[in-house]
This record gives sequence, structure tokens and C-alpha cells, in this order.
Amino acid sequence: MKKFENKIALVTGAASGIGRATALAFAKEGAKVILADINPEFGNHVLEEVKALGNDAIFVACNIGKRVEVLHVIESAIQNFGRIDVAVNCAGIAGTVSKPVHEYPEEDWINQIQINLIGTWYCVKFQIEQMLKQGGGNIVCVSSAAGLVGQPENSPYAASKHGVNGLVKSAAIEYATQNIRINAICPTAIETPMIMQGRRKLAENPEALQQAINFQRMKRMGQPQEVADVALWLCSQKSSFITGHCMAVDGGAFA
Ligand SMILES: NC(=O)c1ccc[n+]([C@@H]2O[C@H](COP(=O)([O-])OP(=O)(O)OC[C@H]3O[C@@H](n4cnc5c(N)ncnc54)[C@H](O)[C@@H]3O)[C@@H](O)[C@H]2O)c1
Repeated sequence: MKKFENKIALVTGAASGIGRATALAFAKEGAKVILADINPEFGNHVLEEVKALGNDAIFVACNIGKRVEVLHVIESAIQNFGRIDVAVNCAGIAGTVSKPVHEYPEEDWINQIQINLIGTWYCVKFQIEQMLKQGGGNIVCVSSAAGLVGQPENSPYAASKHGVNGLVKSAAIEYATQNIRINAICPTAIETPMIMQGRRKLAENPEALQQAINFQRMKRMGQPQEVADVALWLCSQKSSFITGHCMAVDGGAFA
């Protein structure tokens, strides 16, 4: 029997990187998947990949920074599948510039908090509302190593991810006796478009790329699948005594 047979899994940020790998991993384990993302073109492509595995799935376009759009995802999930057993919140953005706090552009600062923290809060809030109605569930938020330690020249991202960890720990305590577990994953460098084409443009900058690789004791970046595997484990019964944990997935970086 597959590990998530007959389970309903919601994945935000499912159009790319860690979210895509997570959606595919759930589908391989038998789950029906709701894919949510701001990018319908890539999202529908991943939907086809998921369906090719023989699974029932839907894609819902959504900007997690907008309350009504997150509500729409939850409503679509319920209309199509009746419940949400597990949710992995991967949607997020990185900053586009590297600047110290006093020089950081205000609009970018606020936008990262709006998407990464407030958007993740909307997701968690409405997922919990649904899970309370149905008697339980399991939530994982993809935070960051920048939620565990400061990240110079990247303060809004680090602040947003520290915020996500605070949200996760608080919610874990609040619902610990109501059959809802909630955990965070805090990856260091994972080879996805966000890091390769994002703020530091590692794909075009061999020196920065080497630095990013060397940060892990394993002297390599992680792969999206290696984060997805942790997310599935945290959503499974195999981690039944774990809640409120912010787990580094870091190739030994913080050892
Ligand atoms: N790649 C890394 O090194 C790394 C490290 C630590 C944490 N993370 C976190 O992992 C998560 C996934 O990132 P990734 O590396 O897979 O990046 P990615 O850019 O490949 O994927 C992010 C996905 O989120 C979607 N998205 C962005 N803003 C959105 C919004 N407002 N509403 C809905 N969807 C939105 C994008 O369209 C994209 O499909 C992010 O939260 C990121 O902060 C990544």
C-alpha cells in the first residue's frame, strides 16, 4: 500500500522547485493533490506531470498574499475532494537585491513579509479551520535556514522566515491536543530556480555558486526531492510525536 493512498494533499508553490517535487512525491505515494501557485503556466505543466502518474489532481491559481485567493484554494479543495489531510506550504519569494537594513527598498521589504509571512499565515489559518472541522490534519511550512539564523543583506527574507517559525511553533502548541500537527522545514541551499536565478544569480556567478555549495558540510547543494522527502515524512504517521519542530535540512551546515 502506498503511504498516502486515499489522502488529500495540498501543496502551495507547486509550480516549481521544492513545491513541484513535493506534489510529485505525494502523487507517487497515492495522494490526490491540490496544486496551488501564482504561476498558472508552470502550475498546469506540473498538474500534467502529476496526472501522468495516474492520480486525481487539480491546479488552483493563487497569490498566497491575498486572503480571498487562499480561501478560494481551500474551497476548491473541499469542492473537489471533501477534505485536506495534509498541507505543505512551499510558496515563497526571495528578495531581488542584497542590501543592508538601512538601505533596503521599503516596497521589497514589505512585499516579502506580505508573501512569505502573511501569505503563509493565511494558508495555515484556513488549513487549520478546515482541519478542525474534519477532526485533524498535518501541516508543514517550508521556512528556511534564514528562519534560524540571521542573513546579512537579506533582512526581510530572514525576518519573514523567522516569523514563519514563530507561527509554526505557536500553532503547534495551540492545536497539539486537537490532532493537528504543524512543523517547519528550514533548508539551506537547495538547487531550484529561486536560488539559481534569484537574488545572487548563482547560475551566472561561479564564485557565489561555490560559496553556496561550501556552506553545506557535504559540499553540495540539496535537491528539491531531499526536501520533499522530509515534508512527506513530517506529514506521515512515522513522525506522529513531532510537532512545532523547525527542522534544518542542511547537509550538516549547522552541525
Ligand atoms: N531553494 C533554496 O535554496 C531554499 C532554501 C530555503 C528555503 N527555501 C524556501 O522554499 C520554498 C520553495 O522555494 P523554491 O526554492 O522551490 O523556489 P521556486 O522559485 O522554485 O518555487 C517557488 C514557487 O512559489 C511560487 N510563488 C511565489 N510567490 C507566490 C505567491 N505569492 N503565491 C503563490 N505562489 C507563489 C512560485 O511561482 C514558484 O512556483 C520557498 O518558501 C523558499 O523560501 C528555498
